[in-house]
Amino acid sequence: MPTNYKRTLVTAALPYANGPVHIGHLAGCYLPSDIYVRFKRSKGEDVKFICGSDEHGVPITIKAKKEGVTPQAVVDKYHKMMGDAFREFGISFDIYSRTSSPVHHKTASDFFKTLYDKGVFTEQVTEQYYDESAKQFLADRYITGTCPKCGNPNAYGDQCEKCGSSLSPTELIEPKSALSGNKPVLKQTKNWFLPLDKLQPDIRAYLDKHKDWKSNVYGQCNSWLESGDGLQPRAMTRDLDWGVPVPVEGAEGKVLYVWFDAPIGYISATKELLPDDWEKYWKDKESRLIHFIGKDNIVFHCIIFPAMLMQHGEFVLADNVPANEFLNLEGDKISTSRNWAVWLHEYLLDFKGKQDVLRYVLCANAPETKDNDFTWKDFQTKNNSELVAILGNFVNRTLVLTHKFYNGSVPAADKYTKEDLLVLEELASYPDKIEAAIEQFKFREALAEMMNLARLGNKYLADTEPWKLIKTDEERVRTIMNVALQITCNLAIVSEPFLPFTSRKLFDMLNMPVLKWHASKQTSNMAAGHTINKDELLFAKLEDADIQPQLDRLEASKKNNVTENPVEAAKGETSFDDFSKMDIRVGTILEAERVPKTDKLMKLKIDTGIDVRTVVSGIAAWYKPEEIIGQQVSILVNLAPRKIKGIESQGMILMAENNKGELSFVSPVKTGMNNGSLIK
Ligand code: MF3
Ligand code: ZN
Repeated sequence: MPTNYKRTLVTAALPYANGPVHIGHLAGCYLPSDIYVRFKRSKGEDVKFICGSDEHGVPITIKAKKEGVTPQAVVDKYHKMMGDAFREFGISFDIYSRTSSPVHHKTASDFFKTLYDKGVFTEQVTEQYYDESAKQFLADRYITGTCPKCGNPNAYGDQCEKCGSSLSPTELIEPKSALSGNKPVLKQTKNWFLPLDKLQPDIRAYLDKHKDWKSNVYGQCNSWLESGDGLQPRAMTRDLDWGVPVPVEGAEGKVLYVWFDAPIGYISATKELLPDDWEKYWKDKESRLIHFIGKDNIVFHCIIFPAMLMQHGEFVLADNVPANEFLNLEGDKISTSRNWAVWLHEYLLDFKGKQDVLRYVLCANAPETKDNDFTWKDFQTKNNSELVAILGNFVNRTLVLTHKFYNGSVPAADKYTKEDLLVLEELASYPDKIEAAIEQFKFREALAEMMNLARLGNKYLADTEPWKLIKTDEERVRTIMNVALQITCNLAIVSEPFLPFTSRKLFDMLNMPVLKWHASKQTSNMAAGHTINKDELLFAKLEDADIQPQLDRLEASKKNNVTENPVEAAKGETSFDDFSKMDIRVGTILEAERVPKTDKLMKLKIDTGIDVRTVVSGIAAWYKPEEIIGQQVSILVNLAPRKIKGIESQGMILMAENNKGELSFVSPVKTGMNNGSLIK
């Protein structure tokens, strides 16, 4: 770490505005960055904390399509939701901006133009996948297929989330359009490429200066550079209509690649925050830039964005990129599509006012060096046996006794015993220990040290037993309680980066102004005679019944999701007229028999209310003939008849099909729906 820096710019990855924030986001990126920034602020350093919503890219347009709304509506909704959730959890961004802002569009556009004018890009006509039914090029996540590196069948065109490889769409085995599920065709198109192959020596030199980075980060970068043919040119533009338009001639209908524009969002947001002063954070050699991200963002922050900044020429490069690994939930990968997550906005409803409990548990379990697991049982245990039993208990005993013995007035310390002096010495040593851990991005260790300070307090009270001693040695007890109050006050200071709400409560109860970090190296912050406020409990015990609803909810998610496959992409719009052309009725199966020499087909006689007719249906793998006689089903009666295996099928039974390919009848849910009832 350079020691001669004057200011720090901390960025937290701009989350895609396509869904709410969950504990994985918090643990991986936003909580560690917040702890770091709060610590720096407490130290009185010049620090700015930048974040915002990443509102471009295919994840947004896919979500819009799924929900049948515009991309703008999607980003508006989630930008607000994400901003609110971060605020409520005390993530103290100096700005939470968004990449759809005009400042950003201009900044990103100008940045591209600068590189373009410098001749950095190579212009290449290449064959890209194209969906003929959707009439659209399939960039990035619009295309899925099997990962050539690890065999994951759900890899995206730009990345495999299973093995972390960055991919190009043409590498995918059996590519499929995420729009239609169809096999795409290759079609020529012109795009602008960043020649990472030629820039590799510069990137190598940059990384070589940062061997101090976390080993998971440095290692991943190295393998990028060293494996196979090294870095490859990467297109910085896309044939899409959602994003920042490419600001050069001949690029109509194209936008900047989302990973080109999004990191520039850090610059735009700084501009928005400090219109007159932003440049010193980005261009002054004495500024230190730190990117907090999750591991799937490493290549973009350690290789591509630095390469862009180097080519531009004016900017500082990241001094560190403390990326975390992933957080799992109850032993399983967090997944939005499977609703396997703890959503922050839902947590707030169920655990009102307990933001710090989650902050504590997530920091204690942060996936700093390897993937880690969040379980509700562990959440309960950490709350009960650490926050309640150690921190809460110490503070509570100290404040209650101060009120009881001295009406809330801080007693003067008289003569320190050897034991007291040792405790005071240890007390003064904690800030440096915590500081050293935070500066190395070891937040779990820092948090553990903070708790050790509370343990020190607890042990001190248990050893000295002021509640007993008060009967025999009032003078000694005054000193003991003074020491305990000093420990409490310093806990308020050093807990602030981790548990800001608790720290605030502590300062309030102590009736003290918020003290800065340097004060925690003192052991006399609480002056004799100062009156403290009424005490309240910092933490409350969590019973099994408090976490059971969470476990039940996850159990329900499990039942609703048979596989990890995403659901079929949304279809295009249809008109009501088209829909009402279909004559769908309730019917009853009168007879059923398997069609000989087929695995799947069954021949059914159905009473449609209008008539009795024959329908051939592919349900034999899922139903036995004898069990479905008398079953009510939905039947499309005006489908043109067709011959199947020589039998004329006069209609079609409507079926639900899950992502495993299992079929189920769609039947009326109420009794009394007579045959011939219209389904509309
Ligand atoms: N939106 C990306 C994600 O959620 C992160 C973008 S970080 C930035 O994975 F640098 F591009 F802003
Ligand atoms: Zn893979």
